[in-house]
Amino acid sequence: MKKNPPTGISRRRFITQTAAVITLPLILPGCATSFARRTQPSNRIHVGVVGWGMQGPNNTRSFLVEDGCQVIATCDLDKNHLQDAVNTINDHYQTKDCTAYHDYREMMAREDLDAVMIAVPDHWHELVATEAAHRNLDIYGEKPLAKTVAEQQAIVRAVEKHKIIWQTGSWQRSQPPFHKAAEIVRNGLIGKVTHVEVGLPSGHTDFAGSAPELFKRLVALPDKVDNLANVIPGTVAWDLAVTEPPQELDYNTWIGPSKMEPYIKQRVYMNWRWNYNTGGGQLMDWVGHHVDIAHWGLGFDRSGPLEVEGHGEFPAANALWNTATKYRIELKYPENITMTIAGGFDDIKSGTKWIGTDGWVWVDRGGFDASNLEWKKGKILPEALRQIKLYESPGHWRNFLDCVRSRRPTIAPVETAHHSAIPGHLGLISMFVGRKIRWDNASETIIGDPEASRLLTRAYRAPWKM
Ligand SMILES: NC(=O)c1ccc[n+]([C@@H]2O[C@H](COP(=O)([O-])OP(=O)(O)OC[C@H]3O[C@@H](n4cnc5c(N)ncnc54)[C@H](O)[C@@H]3O)[C@@H](O)[C@H]2O)c1
Repeated sequence: MKKNPPTGISRRRFITQTAAVITLPLILPGCATSFARRTQPSNRIHVGVVGWGMQGPNNTRSFLVEDGCQVIATCDLDKNHLQDAVNTINDHYQTKDCTAYHDYREMMAREDLDAVMIAVPDHWHELVATEAAHRNLDIYGEKPLAKTVAEQQAIVRAVEKHKIIWQTGSWQRSQPPFHKAAEIVRNGLIGKVTHVEVGLPSGHTDFAGSAPELFKRLVALPDKVDNLANVIPGTVAWDLAVTEPPQELDYNTWIGPSKMEPYIKQRVYMNWRWNYNTGGGQLMDWVGHHVDIAHWGLGFDRSGPLEVEGHGEFPAANALWNTATKYRIELKYPENITMTIAGGFDDIKSGTKWIGTDGWVWVDRGGFDASNLEWKKGKILPEALRQIKLYESPGHWRNFLDCVRSRRPTIAPVETAHHSAIPGHLGLISMFVGRKIRWDNASETIIGDPEASRLLTRAYRAPWKM
């Protein structure tokens, strides 16, 4: 049985150090040579990547260009995606060294891995991340932290228990405009913050481009179906949508801990976001970006709302795409600060806007504006205004690798990701139960509402266990 490394030391480094002490005076028998190879690792951080869909390749390419690491293994449940991953990685290094895995647990059992990048759908985050943490692998993991608050808590516990380094894919923190906006707020330049507006997308976006193919089959129906939110069980449209899974995909495992549903192509790659069985709609897809930035500016990375009231427009609960198409959440925070998170409302602009007693600042991808035109100049604020300096990262993926070496916290550690996603989870719960809910940030519980509290977690499909 493997011995856990002492806290704060990565697994491979631990093996290196202890093995050096034990094996130096010995002549190694033949059977120990592979172990011996492991005792002389290069200085490069060995990374394994899990999930090769939309974001997995983006993250991996950002690691491939870093000299400080080597991607040595990859894992996916789709044979075509897996092959593409192996080809991309091997082509980059001009080798044939990258190993392919179907089961992330097998990949993570390798002794020569230091870290993993996880970009699987949200309904898988908890299982994959806690497996990695228990194996003392440092983790670059995607937002939102997990599918439910309870799953997020499980990840936080595992990461903290094993003292592993965690970076969340909330990469906006590593971008200068978001950093500058958050510093303006933290340095009190807009006075005391009274309100924050967070604008997120609405509707559903056919990321995989797979909807038109289904519409072609549905167009002949008497009730023309041109919206996947109208494809529901018991209709001809539903029956036409259901097919056998393609042979390259292990669909049973892909559904994993979520409820088994018949295979429909438009609910799998990328579009799993639009069904609550696997994702959380636009709200949960974006909360880890713009609410994450809102909290950063407020200094609320470990704080949370006191009250949350959400309203949304939803397709039928059993529709193929059933996530809220329009939503508005009003939140009350400590220090008399209020926040509105909205998708589909013209009065709330996309991005994050902090409003204070002396001014305001707004930031989005490709956009920055403020009540004081001086703040718009330059990538960073003038030194004189930066009494409080926020964490600066040289790039989100580089920051992770630096922290794997230094064992210092990343710019987006696990507790931060947990708190950034909580307002979204609570907003959804409020919409589902149809009333305002009260939240105790210290105990991470909903106050006095057993029905809402039950929605902080979900049942896992056997044999998977949280
Ligand atoms: N940070 C960002 O800007 C950003 C952008 C897009 C997506 N994301 C996040 O990345 C994650 C993945 O999203 P996506 O759009 O890339 O999804 P996707 O559907 O495009 O890709 C997911 C891949 O994971 C594979 N997979 C699923 N379960 C698996 C398992 N148990 N083991 C191994 N492979 C498995 C799938 O076969 C697929 O290839 C999500 O959490 C999403 O929120 C983040």
